[in-house]
Formats: sequence, structure tokens, C-alpha cells
Amino acid sequence: MATIVGSVMSSHVPAIGGAIAKGIQDEPYWRPFFSGFPPVRDWLGRVQPTVAVVFYMDHGLNFFLDKMPTFAVGAAAEYRNADEGWGLPTQRTFRGNAPLSWHVIESLIADEFDITTCQEMLIDHACIIPFQLLYPGGGDWPLSIVPITINHVQHPLPSPKRCFALGQAVGRALASWQQDARILVLGTGGLSHQLDGTRAGFINKPFDLMCMDALVNDPASLTRFSTLDIVREAGAQGTELLAWIAARAALPGRVTKVHSNYHIPISNTAGAVLALANEGAALARAA
Ligand code: DHB
Ligand code: FE
Repeated sequence: MATIVGSVMSSHVPAIGGAIAKGIQDEPYWRPFFSGFPPVRDWLGRVQPTVAVVFYMDHGLNFFLDKMPTFAVGAAAEYRNADEGWGLPTQRTFRGNAPLSWHVIESLIADEFDITTCQEMLIDHACIIPFQLLYPGGGDWPLSIVPITINHVQHPLPSPKRCFALGQAVGRALASWQQDARILVLGTGGLSHQLDGTRAGFINKPFDLMCMDALVNDPASLTRFSTLDIVREAGAQGTELLAWIAARAALPGRVTKVHSNYHIPISNTAGAVLALANEGAALARAA
């Protein structure tokens, strides 16, 4: 039987990968951000996930403006990282979990989500960097992945309500997976940021903290926002919040906050991490 152990939502700014490559995590600029991760790693050490389902955004590495799926699910045996122009070292190829991918795809289609299925898929910084933060030391990842992308590049984007429903549908798929697996659900990106235009550098701390709070106990409340509300409140790229919303919605029952951290700025972005334990999973483990 599959167990959903919980969820981690994390920033994925490419500069984080640059700081890891240079080994400057303890410098004053970076320490307040990297110091958010050891408590999350301690928890991962206790719950020992074997598979990660990753909600994230492809930033033009795999999909571009000519072909842009709203939601795409990877169904590959492995996922290669590639250079996207940030100058980051290419990370080790990730093991996929194709049987679980196909189970998720079948369940989503039966649930009337018309997703795109990708038997080949490159993964960008938005998928890789959270793993560098959670499992430091060179990319010998102890889990396989099921990557799920959400369009945040080309409008119209899916609404928070739709991303919440997607997350719930993925949660139902995971709960009905009959093989032994300890599943971690990741949501990557954000929080508030805008990389270009007249509001470049925009960050909204009160909105971010409200969202981090709501994600713990009342995530459905975030579905009252439209996509354009999120653009206005969190910046054009703050729409990466959609991945956090989907990841949270995949957790079926009550959750406990393991740890959170919020720090401004990391590059142009409000850097954050939020880890949530699925209370049902804790009970299942003790039994
Ligand atoms: C930055 C943030 C992102 O989410 C991203 O994908 C690329 C760059 C930044 O703040 O530099
Ligand atoms: Fe991004």
C-alpha cells in the first residue's frame, strides 16, 4: 500500500543552485535561506520517502510558447537535466517511476483531467533545485520521481481552483496505488516575485505569509483568488504559487506543520520552504 508521508513546498531560484555549486551556503546573504532546510531534512530522514511526485513549472526547457500544455505528467523511466542558460552544473539523471506515472495518468484521465502525457521529458531547475536542498551532497537521489508541470509561462494559466482540483485528483490516484511506496509530494517555486516589466523586483510579504498560513490549515481558501489576482498580489512569476496549491491539495487528511522558513530576498524572489506531515501517514507508520 502506498503512504503519502507529506509535502514539501520550496523555492527553486536558479541562483540557489549557483550558491550550492560555489559552496557559499554559509555566507551572510545565503545563510538565512539555507538554514531553513536542516529541520526538513531531519524529518525526511524519519519518514524516508521512496517516491516524489513533483508539481513544478517548466521554464522553456522542455515546452516553449509554440507547444504549452496546461498540465503535463512525465511517464519516463528517467529524466535528464539539461543546461537552460543559467550556467548551472548539469545534475545527475533522475530515476523515474513509470508505473506510478501511468497509474496517475489513468486515474487523472478517468477523473476528467485532460493532461498531456510525456514519455520523454527534460527537467529544469524548478524540479532539480529542491532536491539539491533536501538531499545535499551531489545528486545521488534516494527516490524516484513523477514530474507534473503546470503552465505558468503563457496565459491563460489554470486557476488556483483548477490546480487545487488537480492536486486533489493526484492525491486520490496516490491513495489508490497498490504497490508499497512512501510518497512525498513536492510543490516548487515562488513565493512572490516578478522578473521583468515595470514591477520587476516586486515582492509581497503579507500576501506570502497569508498563503503559507492558509496552506497549513485552510488551503481551499486560496481558491477564491483568480489567476490575475495572484499576478497582482504575488507578481507575474508569483503564479508559481499554483504548484504549492496543487501539492497541498494532494494531501488527503489533516496535516501537521513540520517546519517553515521565509526570507527576502533570494535573487528577485521571496525565498521560502514549508514542510507538512500527513497525520494519517504518521499513524500508519507507528502501527
Ligand atoms: C528567479 C526565480 C525563478 O522562479 C526562476 O524560475 C528563475 C529566476 C530569480 O529570482 O532569479
Ligand atoms: Fe521559477
